[in-house]
Amino acid sequence: MTVGIDAMEIHAGKLRLDLAETFAPAMDEDPGKYTKGLGLHASSFPDVHEDIVTMGANAAHRLMERKGLEPDDIGRIDVATESAFDNSKPVSTYIAGCLEAVYEGDFHHANKGERKFACISGTQSLDDAYNWIRADRNRGRAALVIATDTALYARGDAGEATQGAGAVAMLISEDPDLVALSQEQGFGSADETDFLKPNQQFPSVDGKRSVQVYLARMREALEDYESVAGRVYSEEFRYVPFHTPFPGMVRKAALLGYRHMTRGTAIEDDLEPAIGRQPLPDEFDDESGYRDAVREYMDALKETEQYGEWYDQAIEPTLDIARHVGNWYTGSVHVARLSALRRAREDGIDATGERLLVGSYGSGAQAEIHTETVQEEWETELDALDIDDQLDDRRDISFEEYEEIHDAHNHAKDDEFDALTTPSGEFVRDGQGPMNERTYRYVE
Ligand code: HMG
Repeated sequence: MTVGIDAMEIHAGKLRLDLAETFAPAMDEDPGKYTKGLGLHASSFPDVHEDIVTMGANAAHRLMERKGLEPDDIGRIDVATESAFDNSKPVSTYIAGCLEAVYEGDFHHANKGERKFACISGTQSLDDAYNWIRADRNRGRAALVIATDTALYARGDAGEATQGAGAVAMLISEDPDLVALSQEQGFGSADETDFLKPNQQFPSVDGKRSVQVYLARMREALEDYESVAGRVYSEEFRYVPFHTPFPGMVRKAALLGYRHMTRGTAIEDDLEPAIGRQPLPDEFDDESGYRDAVREYMDALKETEQYGEWYDQAIEPTLDIARHVGNWYTGSVHVARLSALRRAREDGIDATGERLLVGSYGSGAQAEIHTETVQEEWETELDALDIDDQLDDRRDISFEEYEEIHDAHNHAKDDEFDALTTPSGEFVRDGQGPMNERTYRYVE
């Protein structure tokens, strides 16, 4: 049985903060830190009437309209988020409520839930849907997986530069049109305190350490994947989408991955005259000597033509969208997949049958590796998307407007702000009900 992602849609927050032109000068920092160091040009932000529900519902609505689906066709709605505003009622119920306002049918017989494990819960929700279909409990119906987040940091936190807001909706079904998911998967998981939100809206972040934890868990996940699926080699995968908190993070993960995948191969032989062979732990008396040698090897590897070519082909295309929207937490790795396929379409590449090595990650911390195979109808799916229009249509905000928008989404502040955009053909948040529930409506 082939199970995977049949269709995807995104909803980008409707505001755009330019990091080099607007944010960097206000922070008294060199724009190069953002564009070159972190690899980010802009962040997407939610307008005042947008939140995780509206963004998720808007992405899901577009997906259902495009695929000609009715609520009866959906047997499961899973929402992955780390920006939830309710510890009991799941976001999926709010999103189903929004969708029921525009469809005749309802989702009364769909199983709804909410998944939490930082950014990796988007991929975990895919897994849940995959398992549900493989177990034949779906009664012929598809699953709707929605990854939606407002990835905001406290003002002044180093993570402020990597913020973003958006949702990804994915339809999971048998015989999918976009990508098939591998049965094999690998995990790297440990109790870590690199990034967490203990009953607080904005995360406590140990930024530098979070980078190391990401790399360590990703390496473990790759080794675990290889223990079930056999060794992986760089040339087997057309694209390698990683969780992308910022492209600079992926640059580090990609180099590590390439070193791993080329170890003991003809590529390592080919590189040997220029940079030597890869250092191995048993060649050293102590850990620090080994680490220094690895660092030196990696610095040299990064500069080789072989690595540069692989990076440009397998990694760079996965970052096109992230550079302009920032971190979407649970949606981020799914944006990376879409970004790669969008580039394949632009470059006229026949990607049918090509494989992707997908690296998901969530702080706290866990990484997961699985592979995907691009399906025959992928071009039709890509052509139906309006990603460029959404990104181009965002309203640019000044630094003062950014400060207000950040406050508007800060749960601890109750100042009222006017929306900066005029909603049309979308779900909007319109207030608070008697039980403190958020209320929504559809604006024609
Ligand atoms: P920072 O300390 O402000 O930045 O925060 P920096 O000084 O380390 O600079 C960043 C890079 O820019 C460095 O490059 C600098 O050299 C370079 P690197 O050494 O890393 O290669 N740079 C420049 N380059 C060119 N021209 C210049 C210039 N200036 C500097 N003028 C930090 C960086 C990542 C710590 C911060 O952004 C942060 O705390 N971010 C939030 C945490 C995060 O994203 N961690 C990533 C891994 S954890 C993860 O992915 C999970 C997450 O998504 C949450 C979840 O799972 O739910 C976050």
